[in-house]
Amino acid sequence: MPKKRWIEKRITDPYYVRSKREGYSSRAAFKLEEMKKFHVFRGARVIIDLCSSPGSWIEVLTRETDAEFILGIDLKKIRVGESEHVHFLQGDVTDETLIPQILEKLPRLADLVLSDCSQKTSGVKATDHARQMFLAECSLEIALNCLRPGGIFVTKVFQGDLLQDFVSRLKDSFFSVKRFKPRASLKSSAEMYVLGFGKKAVRS
Ligand SMILES: C[S@@+](CC[C@H](N)C(=O)[O-])C[C@H]1O[C@@H](n2cnc3c(N)ncnc32)[C@H](O)[C@@H]1O
Repeated sequence: MPKKRWIEKRITDPYYVRSKREGYSSRAAFKLEEMKKFHVFRGARVIIDLCSSPGSWIEVLTRETDAEFILGIDLKKIRVGESEHVHFLQGDVTDETLIPQILEKLPRLADLVLSDCSQKTSGVKATDHARQMFLAECSLEIALNCLRPGGIFVTKVFQGDLLQDFVSRLKDSFFSVKRFKPRASLKSSAEMYVLGFGKKAVRS
């Protein structure tokens, strides 16, 4: 798409306009806002937000939850400042040494682990799908180690061959699993979210 058309499309996008009006760092805020209907915020006091930059999900969480401890993690620094409740760890979700670093920061196991990871797409559907599913797998591994029994996990995925197997494995570790495509997620994009409710104490 030519640059001029891309910019026009973006600045007239209703979610982009709303994000500016409502003071969010990005339009991604509305994807999380829509998930409120699944009660993902209920009882969420300790929250991990993987791939949190620029920080609009953290902004939603500070506005909409009673969270005492939000830990944002990303390769890039977040734009929202750290505070008594908001903490940040610069790191790579694919790095196995991240899990002990997270556990060291948390006051206790998390009630909610969110993951909105994405990287630059190549345009090759199968490659982009596989790369996205790897980020989702790494996020799941973090959730399995850092979430309390009964906790909730939300992750971005791309539709494609590997999704069904990922969902099946999520079912081993969570009592119920849901797929969800928010309205704010572009129809043309393969992006959607998978939600795992009620982490099992022991994998089945
Ligand atoms: C769509 S943005 C997240 C938007 C965020 N939820 C918000 O509301 O502002 C995707 C983020 O994933 C991060 N990311 C991609 N790969 C990562 C990795 N391996 N480890 C940590 N962060 C990563 C990028 O740096 C980028 O900030």
